[in-house]
Amino acid sequence: MLAACREERTSHAVRLSGATVPAEEHSALSGPVPRIMVMCGRNDFRERSMTKSANTRPHEGGKNESTVSSIELEQQVFGDNPTEVRDTDHYTQEYVGGMVDKWDELIDWKKRSESEGRFFIDQLKSRGVHTVLDAATGTGFHSARLVEEGFDTVSADGSPQMLAKAFQNGIDYGGNVLRVVNADWRWLNRDVHGEFDAIICLGNSFTHLFSEHDRRKALAEFYAKLKHDGVLIIDQRNYDAVLDNGSGGNRTYYYCGDQVSAKPDHVDDGLARYKYTFPDNSEYFLNMYPLRKKYLRGLMRDVGFQKIDTYGDFQETYAESEPDYFIHVAEKSYRDPGELDAE
Ligand SMILES: C[S@@+](CC[C@H](N)C(=O)[O-])C[C@H]1O[C@@H](n2cnc3c(N)ncnc32)[C@H](O)[C@@H]1O
Repeated sequence: MLAACREERTSHAVRLSGATVPAEEHSALSGPVPRIMVMCGRNDFRERSMTKSANTRPHEGGKNESTVSSIELEQQVFGDNPTEVRDTDHYTQEYVGGMVDKWDELIDWKKRSESEGRFFIDQLKSRGVHTVLDAATGTGFHSARLVEEGFDTVSADGSPQMLAKAFQNGIDYGGNVLRVVNADWRWLNRDVHGEFDAIICLGNSFTHLFSEHDRRKALAEFYAKLKHDGVLIIDQRNYDAVLDNGSGGNRTYYYCGDQVSAKPDHVDDGLARYKYTFPDNSEYFLNMYPLRKKYLRGLMRDVGFQKIDTYGDFQETYAESEPDYFIHVAEKSYRDPGELDAE
């Protein structure tokens, strides 16, 4: 069971239970370590317990429509018609309980780190990036890596259970205290302080937004949160291949656990529902929106990103149907119209 502690962040320090720790000493913390630190919405720092009821929807500031909050859910909730669940808010009922515990088995940190190599690190370092917001922290795979590489990193996610796991992983995989913030992308500027050189939104996370309205709002929040010359790195499954050819998912760049199967359970123009089966026969599901590559690039351009490079499985050149994943690197710096790629 997770205990809660109170965190308060200034630009240079994190206060843990009243003791102020300079930022550079976070990883040197010794003695009993708190299991979860969650900065809540509106920058009020509330104590949270994994067993007590808490607000499921950070944007509603206290209102809670569901009888059981996402922070205490132990089972995913899909109801009687799982393929009818096409709702942006629903991710908080998917990244709970067993799914959170199993996530690292699914992605396998060691193998994923080998398959990604230094792609993201090099993208960031080549642009002189220092501050990074990991907007979809999940269980902390990229945040932990970024901190190890010396980036000043803030780790946000809308799922408190995923964040709790990320916080523990930061400690377990390198003794780093991640600066975690419970924030939904649609309210990012309200809930996370400061501007960043880069924002990453990885692991096919953006696919959880089910309406164009929410996609545009999330991208606008990312754009506003970046410095004037900032960069957004956002990835997605190659849903074009899934929708058009029923293919995709042959390689294992992201879900690297070799004992786990990740297969489409239902696919139509508005839903890609995937089933994840683990060696103990447990099954979990994620309902996602099948984003087309050109569509997402268009939305990023509409929001104001000037130059967007799209890689296929980390390569610059690829046949459209081949990659499992596309990675978009979107720059905010102004470009002359002549410099922009033709779509
Ligand atoms: C597929 S997981 C990826 C986690 C991690 N980036 C990785 O690659 O392992 C998607 C994450 O996005 C988060 N997420 C989904 N929709 C969100 C939203 N609207 N606001 C904030 N976080 C969201 C989920 O809680 C989940 O932790």
